[in-house]
Amino acid sequence: MQVIVRPTREEATRIVARLVAKAVRSNPDLVFGLATGLTMERLYARLVRIHREEKLDFSLVRTFNLDEYVGLAADDERSYHMYMTKHLFSHVNIDRRNTHLLDGMAKDLDAECQRYEDLIKHCGGIDLQLLGIGRDGHIGFNEPLSALYSRTRDKSLTPTTLAQNEKYFGGRDKMPHRALTMGVGTILDCKKLIMFVTGDSKAAVLAKAVEGPITSMMTASAIQLHPHCIVVADEEAASKLEARDYYRWIFENEPEWKEFR
Ligand code: PGA
Repeated sequence: MQVIVRPTREEATRIVARLVAKAVRSNPDLVFGLATGLTMERLYARLVRIHREEKLDFSLVRTFNLDEYVGLAADDERSYHMYMTKHLFSHVNIDRRNTHLLDGMAKDLDAECQRYEDLIKHCGGIDLQLLGIGRDGHIGFNEPLSALYSRTRDKSLTPTTLAQNEKYFGGRDKMPHRALTMGVGTILDCKKLIMFVTGDSKAAVLAKAVEGPITSMMTASAIQLHPHCIVVADEEAASKLEARDYYRWIFENEPEWKEFR
C-alpha cells in the first residue's frame, strides 16, 4: 500500500484526478470502478474539468459502480444512478451503454448480484476501483462483519451509515435500510485500488483501516491485503496516521511521484 498525504482537500483531489486521468490515457477502454458520496463529488468535478480542458476521452471507458440502494429506481434522484448522471456521466463523452450499476429495483436481488458479478468477469475484471470510506469503516456498503471474501449481495445498513446519509433523504425513516454492494472479495479482485479520503471526521477510521488490524469489523482494512492500493488523504483525514512522516517522505522523494508533485 502507498499512502499519499496532501496538505489540503483540493490538493488531494487533484492527485486522485491525475491518477485517474493517467490510467484512462494509458488504457482508453479502462474498466473503471466508481464510488459515490460527497468526497467523490469533488473528484468527478475535477475529472469533468480535465475532460473539458485537456480532452480526457471517456468514449471507450467502461464503468461499474460499487453499490446502489435497494428500492430506489434508476430515475429516482436519490439513487446512485442519478448521482452518477449528475456528477459525471452527463458531463463527459462516456457511452451510457458502457456504464453499469446494480438495479436496486430488481425482483430477484440474488440474481441481480450474480448478473453483476458475471458482467464484471465478462469485461475482464475491474482495472481501477475508487473507494471512499464510511464512518463505520465500510468500503462499498460492506458494513462491519462483512466477510472479507464476500461477493456482490444485499446488505443491511448500520445506524452509523444511516446517520451519515439520511441528510440526502430528509430523515432516516425515509431512506432505504438495505443496499446492493460489491463484496469485499469482489473489491479485492480489482487490479488496482485508489482509496480517497478527506476531512477530520474520517481520521479515526482511516487510521484503523491503514494501520490497524485486518478485520471484518472494519472492512476498509481489507485494502491491506491488496498488492496495488494507493490511499490519498488530505492532512485532516491523515491526522491520526502514526507513520505519516514516512508517507510524506515517499511522496516528496520517490521518483514515481515526481510527475504528481
Ligand atoms: P462520503 O462517503 O464521501 O459522503 O463521506 C464515503 C462512504 O461512505 O463510502
